[in-house]
Amino acid sequence: MSSPIHDIYAPTLNPVRFFAQIFAKESEILHIKPFGSGHINDTFVASLSNGSRFILQRINHQVFTKVDQLMANIILASKHLSAHSKNLGYQSVEFIPIPENTFYVGNSEQGYWRAMHFIQNSVTFDKAHDPNLAFEAGKALGAFHAMFAHFDASQLHNTLPHFHHLGRRINSFELALEKAETKRVKSASKLIDFARSHQEQLQCIDHLTDHNLVPVRVVHNDPKLNNVLFNQTGKALGLIDLDTVMPGCLLHDFGDAIRTSASLAAEDEPNENLCGINLQLFEAYTRGYGETARQMLTSAEKINLPVATIVMTFTIGLRFLTDYLNGDIYYKTHYPGHNLVRAQAQFAQAADMLNKLSVMQAIIKHYF
Ligand SMILES: Nc1ncnc2c1ncn2[C@@H]1O[C@H](COP(=O)(O)OP(=O)(O)O)[C@@H](O)[C@H]1O
Ligand SMILES: [Mg+2]
Repeated sequence: MSSPIHDIYAPTLNPVRFFAQIFAKESEILHIKPFGSGHINDTFVASLSNGSRFILQRINHQVFTKVDQLMANIILASKHLSAHSKNLGYQSVEFIPIPENTFYVGNSEQGYWRAMHFIQNSVTFDKAHDPNLAFEAGKALGAFHAMFAHFDASQLHNTLPHFHHLGRRINSFELALEKAETKRVKSASKLIDFARSHQEQLQCIDHLTDHNLVPVRVVHNDPKLNNVLFNQTGKALGLIDLDTVMPGCLLHDFGDAIRTSASLAAEDEPNENLCGINLQLFEAYTRGYGETARQMLTSAEKINLPVATIVMTFTIGLRFLTDYLNGDIYYKTHYPGHNLVRAQAQFAQAADMLNKLSVMQAIIKHYF
């Protein structure tokens, strides 16, 4: 799949409006404003004079360098989800086509743009505040995995090879550490020590994937809580943000989901004493996930669900730390030191999870 208008020139003062109009076609755009709290893409909502709205996104092509492969993946995945979601009571994101039967437009200078139908009356949450939300999010992830249970994962491109491979992330961390400003290394010293003392024991999921001890499945790779859309009454409508849907390991999905859906504090809580895992939310998420996915999991997957939550919390913490050492080049930050605060929160949560591992194992055993 390729973008048809590679040489497009947006002569207007406002490129957002220019690209929005391509997807709006003949309709008049009343207004466009930034939307959501994503860390990666730039997201806008456009309102049309006919009363409808759509989501416009500029893809972050520094992160997703293979835009054509990425778009091929999400179109294939979203079509599959559209065909299967209704039966299970979910909705799926639907991309808006433009001429030449493609779904994105742009170039490396002005960015690559795409649009989706707006899922009405939907909300997202950065943190779960009640067990029902966690239960619903778990059920939605299980349904997502189940919908792809018989889908040939090799149809999808591996756009970000070794995306959640902790060993690779450790290599990037060590590289960043070598090149980092002394000032940054100093202020991160406690977290660097934590990373070094835990990195070895947490490469257990790498071992499973490296030796084909768990199946390669179609996975979301970023099923954190704010990538689940809910309706106003707290029912999950489905997963969004399909950029990282690829062949991969289901344990990474469960781990990353628990990291954000069962946490005691926000991803960037500055007080590390408030960070940790909320076992009530963990129980609810697990119950929901079990309801829709239990049948398809292998025993190696089931046994490793609890430790995967720690591996992923640690891995994401390590990535925030690496980005801090690199000078904040990957994640959007809202203040100096934001990535360091995020890393501290994730490591504090991982430490709490390590203390509570046996309780998590008992809960998983109960539901799986
Ligand atoms: N189809 C949609 N309908 C309604 N809201 C959406 C839709 N897609 C995205 N959003 C909103 O936009 C936010 C950012 O979109 P997302 O695809 O998650 O981007 P990012 O990769 O930057 O996180 C979401 O958290 C959600 O609030
Ligand atoms: Mg998102």
